[in-house]
Amino acid sequence: MDNQLKIPRHIAFIMDGNGRWASAKGLSRSEGHRQGAEALKVMVDACSEVGIDAVSVYAFSCENWSKRPQAEIKFLFSLITQFAKNELKKYVERGYRIMFSGDLSQLPKTTFKAIQKVVDAAKNNTGVIVNIALNYGGRQEIVRAVNTILQSGLREIDAEMFEDCLYTAALPPLDLIVRSSGEKRLSNFMLWQCAYSELIFVEKNWPDFGKDTLTDILKEYSQRDRRFGGVK
Ligand code: FPP
Repeated sequence: MDNQLKIPRHIAFIMDGNGRWASAKGLSRSEGHRQGAEALKVMVDACSEVGIDAVSVYAFSCENWSKRPQAEIKFLFSLITQFAKNELKKYVERGYRIMFSGDLSQLPKTTFKAIQKVVDAAKNNTGVIVNIALNYGGRQEIVRAVNTILQSGLREIDAEMFEDCLYTAALPPLDLIVRSSGEKRLSNFMLWQCAYSELIFVEKNWPDFGKDTLTDILKEYSQRDRRFGGVK
């Protein structure tokens, strides 16, 4: 890895294009998601290797429930449950920290239980933070934070207090959001956290992401001039 590269502390991936990857190969959408999970494994390890502190991934949005066939939703949750039982278990052993953003109360019970188990097992770890957004929406996260504040009885807050009520309270600022498959939008992902994030849109579909893709992304990120509202 190039020593001149700037390494973001917190990177997020919108893992898009599993379906298009599969249909281009004459495969089922499920196979696309399966390969998407493989790409996720590779990317998390690659991020940890280069010294990124936190990796957030958009696995399932609140909107996905009503916008995808039931069979696909069922498959996605069985894949996520298997991922929790096998891959996240390995993350626990490697010292990675594991967290989830989203309303987990709506998840299938088996998925919820598998997730709880690994989150609990990783709680004393100190490695890279893997944050999986599941049944997540950026607007929903903001409304949830507002409700937490209202319930506390406070009548005035500042941005820092607001951030403390988000799922990402314990994470470093979000430096970079990457979306695969050439789509150029955020789709309700990390709407508060994206305020000063760099955005990189990659043409490749998510299942085609690998270590070399991360290197290309970091090269582009390193060339960005981040000013946070200041002057050069
Ligand atoms: C978008 O591609 C992808 C998703 C909605 C699911 C993301 C899930 C994975 C990468 C699988 C595994 C995740 C975990 C945490 C194990 P799409 O299906 O919308 O692609 P398309 O736009 O080409 O149809």
